[in-house]
Amino acid sequence: MGVVASAPAKIILFGEHFVVYGEPAIVVAINRRARATAERRQDNRLRFHSANLSTACYFENGVFKVEQGDVKEARLKFEPVKLAVEKVLLRYGKNVGLDVEINSTIPVGAGLGSSAAVVTSVAAAVGALLELKLSKEDIFRIAYDAEKAVHGNPSGVDPAIATFGGTLLFQIDTGFKPVEVNSDIPLVVGDTGVARSTRVQVEKVREIMDSYPQIAGSLRKAAREIVLRAVTALKENDLETLGTLMNINHALLYGVGVSDESLEWLTSAARKAGALGAKLTGAGGGGCMIALAKAEKLDNVSEAIMRAGGSPFVAKKTDEGVKIE
Ligand code: PMV
Repeated sequence: MGVVASAPAKIILFGEHFVVYGEPAIVVAINRRARATAERRQDNRLRFHSANLSTACYFENGVFKVEQGDVKEARLKFEPVKLAVEKVLLRYGKNVGLDVEINSTIPVGAGLGSSAAVVTSVAAAVGALLELKLSKEDIFRIAYDAEKAVHGNPSGVDPAIATFGGTLLFQIDTGFKPVEVNSDIPLVVGDTGVARSTRVQVEKVREIMDSYPQIAGSLRKAAREIVLRAVTALKENDLETLGTLMNINHALLYGVGVSDESLEWLTSAARKAGALGAKLTGAGGGGCMIALAKAEKLDNVSEAIMRAGGSPFVAKKTDEGVKIE
């Protein structure tokens, strides 16, 4: 019998990009999940299969073989997953063969933390299958180290939110702290469908920050104030203020060059349809935007995003991090 584990997607509510410069950011786990089913095999093969990602591949004795899908894509997607599994096997102390089936409802490559949710759920499923009693802290470490080995030096926000769920305040210096939230944070996520690279977007911001240091300082300060004000608004369930802060945050992100036409279309359509606020989320340059709206406006906002060319879905925050199902 297989063991099933799942982990949530995330949105960055406030503070992306400025977080790279040491400012705080707020990250929220949402109710889209990656699910992994792990089963023992008779041989030593680590086989990964995902129907919705249209890939199947295996690793055996240092050999990587793709059975379905593009070789480069499969390596990119499954290398961190394999590394995480190897880290779990290291704790088990024995090499065993595994079949891992991945099912995810998280859009891929859109800044919603799909990759971290997959790695985290796989590490948890394999750990439980081998009866290792991994703590959430263990799972976070394994997922973060696997991501680091493949993606260079990520902040760790994605594996943290996939593991712990809820709403986290993150700052490079101080790490993660849970945020008290007394609101549902009713959101529509709009996927522009435009592919983007986080690295390229981070470089764009770097150029502006380096070229205009005085202005950069003010922008950082504004971003910090937005996050601090948002922490109070989340505690007080003050959706109007949160909406306004999202609009201001989007303007800052536009200012540092990470919005694009697709994001401008969707954010302005959402606002016109009655959203309290809208902003890009994550790296920008495509990817996703989010709109905050009162419950009775969520359908209008979704429809407006769709008419503007995006793929919308209503997202709810979730306190459920990684879990065995
Ligand atoms: O890859 P995304 O879309 O989740 O965006 C990453 C967030 C940035 O602040 C742009 C980069 C970072 O490492 O924090």
